[in-house]
Amino acid sequence: EAFDVMVVGSCMTDLVSQAPRLPKAGETIHGHKFFIGFGGKGANQCVQAARLGAKTAMVCKVGKDFFGDNYIQNFKDSGVHTDFVGQSSDAATGAASIIVNDAGENAIVIVAGANMLLGSEELQEALPAISHAKVLVCQLEISSQTSLQALRMAQGNKVKTIFNPAPAIPDLDPDFYRASDVFCCNESEAELLTGSSVANVEEAHWASQELLKRGCGSVIITLGPQGCVVLKAQELTLKHVPAPPVTAVDTTGAGDSFIGALAFYMAHYPTMPLEEMAHRANQVAGVSVQAVGTQASFPFKKDLSAELF
Ligand code: RIB
Ligand code: NA
Repeated sequence: EAFDVMVVGSCMTDLVSQAPRLPKAGETIHGHKFFIGFGGKGANQCVQAARLGAKTAMVCKVGKDFFGDNYIQNFKDSGVHTDFVGQSSDAATGAASIIVNDAGENAIVIVAGANMLLGSEELQEALPAISHAKVLVCQLEISSQTSLQALRMAQGNKVKTIFNPAPAIPDLDPDFYRASDVFCCNESEAELLTGSSVANVEEAHWASQELLKRGCGSVIITLGPQGCVVLKAQELTLKHVPAPPVTAVDTTGAGDSFIGALAFYMAHYPTMPLEEMAHRANQVAGVSVQAVGTQASFPFKKDLSAELF
């Protein structure tokens, strides 16, 4: 059985507080709501792809603890294959402390824990599945060496790769670009990687050209309410893909919803133009920002217009 989408990446338990604004250093403020949710960029992307109808598998590590047990159940409930979900007693399940303000913006601290214990041994076990998958997706909430190895493994087997350099690191190994069929990041990650401002479509155009030069097949830079820009190596024509106008209540995980959707489209409609996939992924992510939480806000196929399929 071949998977449409495999994700080698993170799982985090999201501990979310909603407050009028983000606190300053040394300050205590009252929030109005607290909830626990399933998050982590890798798992979020995998679950979004699954909700659109992709056959998915997650390669990850959680702790042998309550949060880890719960997370495995969440994958099962979401129809994500769990044979490559490991549990370790050497570290706790990853956790993300998230504060969301009234404008729907957020600040996040992640403690990766067990995510950092995912390594080449686990990748070797997943290799037969990875080599037959349609699309492999990686981020940077696990060891970056593990991510790079997974991308290379996929590329060596002609599996399409999506790399999301999040959270971004300034000294990203240049091999990541060459191992990415689609390199997809947001504006702040693009700023960190290029060293220049990415605040509008014009600047995103420049940044995408800079990133493309480093060797990836295509670049997508997401721009929140401004949608995204798409640049392909073969065409060198920049496309700006606007996002639908929505009222955001919580943008946490919107980028993950976008990437999960993109992975679904790449697996199901391999000949669809990348800008059309990005257009559809914008609609999916646009739904996610209108409800609180990360996975809790991600739409299912049945919630979306038939035109997206
Ligand atoms: O991208 C959103 C995710 O980032 C959250 O779910 C949180 O877990 C952090 O990893
Ligand atoms: Na949301």
